[in-house]
Amino acid sequence: MANKTIQTILSRVSCREYSEKKVSLGKVNQILEAGKYAPSAMNRQIANITCVRTKAKVEKLRELSKETFNRDCMYGANTVVLVHAPREDKFTVQDCSCVLENIFVAANALKVQSCWINQFDELLSTPKGMKMKARLGIPEENRIVGAAILGYVKDPSKLVVKERKADFISIK
Ligand SMILES: Cc1cc2nc3c(=O)[nH]c(=O)nc-3n(C[C@H](O)[C@H](O)[C@H](O)COP(=O)(O)O)c2cc1C
Repeated sequence: MANKTIQTILSRVSCREYSEKKVSLGKVNQILEAGKYAPSAMNRQIANITCVRTKAKVEKLRELSKETFNRDCMYGANTVVLVHAPREDKFTVQDCSCVLENIFVAANALKVQSCWINQFDELLSTPKGMKMKARLGIPEENRIVGAAILGYVKDPSKLVVKERKADFISIK
C-alpha cells in the first residue's frame, strides 16, 4: 500500500521506554489539533484535551503513579495528554477514543512515539489525585477515558509492529 496516510496508520506502535528528549511545542500543537478534529457523536464535541508538559506537573503525575501503582505508568515520558468528557454522557468513551486515535496517528506522522495509558482516571480519583485533577482544571465529573503519552523512544529496535490476527477482518 503506497498511500502515505495509510502507511502512517499501519506503522504506529505503542512505545514503553522514553528518552528525556521533550517533544517541541510546535509538534505537540499539531498532534493536539489532529485530536481536536476527530469525529464526535452528533457533533457535540464533548471531549476535552488537557496536555501536561510542564516539568513540575509531569513529575507530580509520575510521583502519584509511583505512590498508587508502585510504578511509573508513563514509562518516563514527559508529555501526557489526558482526554476526558462528562462521565455520564452516552458517548464519552466513543468520542474520547476517536480523539486519542487521531493523536496516536498524528504523533506517528511526526515521528513522535506514543502509547495509550489507561490508569489516569483511577490515578486522579484518589484524594491526592483529585487535588491534582482540580489543579489541572479538569472538571471533577469528567472521566479520563485515556491518556496519550508522547516522546521519543530510547531504543528504536523495540518499535516493532505487532502481527494482527488472521481472522480480524471478514468481508461478506
Ligand atoms: C483501551 C486501551 C487501553 C490501553 N491501556 C494501556 C496501558 O494502560 N498501558 C500500556 O502500556 N498500554 C496500554 N494500551 C496499549 C496496548 O497495550 C497496545 O495498543 C496493544 O498491545 C497493541 O500494540 P500496538 O499499540 O503497538 O499496536 C492500551 C490500549 C488501548 C486501546
